[in-house]
Amino acid sequence: MPRDDPRAVPEVDPALGRLRELAREDLPELQALFERCGDYFALHEGRPPAPDEAEADWDLMPAGKPREEKQAFGLYAPGLVAVVDVLRDWRRPGTWTIALLLLDPAVRGRGAGTQIVEAVDAWAAAAGADTLRVVVKLVNPGALAFWQALGFRDTPLHYEGLVALERPARTIV
Ligand SMILES: CC(C)(COP(=O)(O)OP(=O)(O)OC[C@H]1O[C@@H](n2cnc3c(N)ncnc32)[C@H](O)[C@@H]1OP(=O)(O)O)[C@@H](O)C(=O)NCCC(=O)NCCS
Repeated sequence: MPRDDPRAVPEVDPALGRLRELAREDLPELQALFERCGDYFALHEGRPPAPDEAEADWDLMPAGKPREEKQAFGLYAPGLVAVVDVLRDWRRPGTWTIALLLLDPAVRGRGAGTQIVEAVDAWAAAAGADTLRVVVKLVNPGALAFWQALGFRDTPLHYEGLVALERPARTIV
């Protein structure tokens, strides 16, 4: 598959693991990851992950946006230790939104999140993205610090405890 084919998979250093695109059959493993990330759901939702949390995330799309325009990738090392959801061309053509980035607590704080974002950046830029976007909840200052450390900057969009941040695609920090 050519490097700029949007179906190609983002690549991380093999020492970290391997990214592969998730499919519906992977939902039980994704649900298990979500359940190991109870801290994130407590912070973001004020509750533990629901029994169908992975399925709900799988189907979650902005109104009117077709499901085919979202891809989920899992980091395997060798089991599933992280997930990243990417929406193509949202909220404008050329802007690709990281709708979810969630790492197993056991692998946080060692650069894996950074590597995943850089891999998504290179992959998205090769497929035509000019901007990466993420929406962060202000109750999650650690995540805000992470995105800011990677060069994401506030956009004017602040609402209901959320802030949208963006950076140009193919930015190596
Ligand atoms: C947020 C998350 C994706 C970051 O991934 P990570 O692999 O832990 O982060 P990295 O090790 O790549 O960190 C890179 C830099 O980001 C900053 N950073 C990361 N996590 C941070 C935290 N909790 N508090 C403050 N700064 C943080 C630091 O500057 C760090 O650089 P340093 O290690 O040299 O200090 C991960 O911790 C996670 O999955 N958290 C739970 C889910 C979540 O909040 N997702 C984001 C929702 S918007």
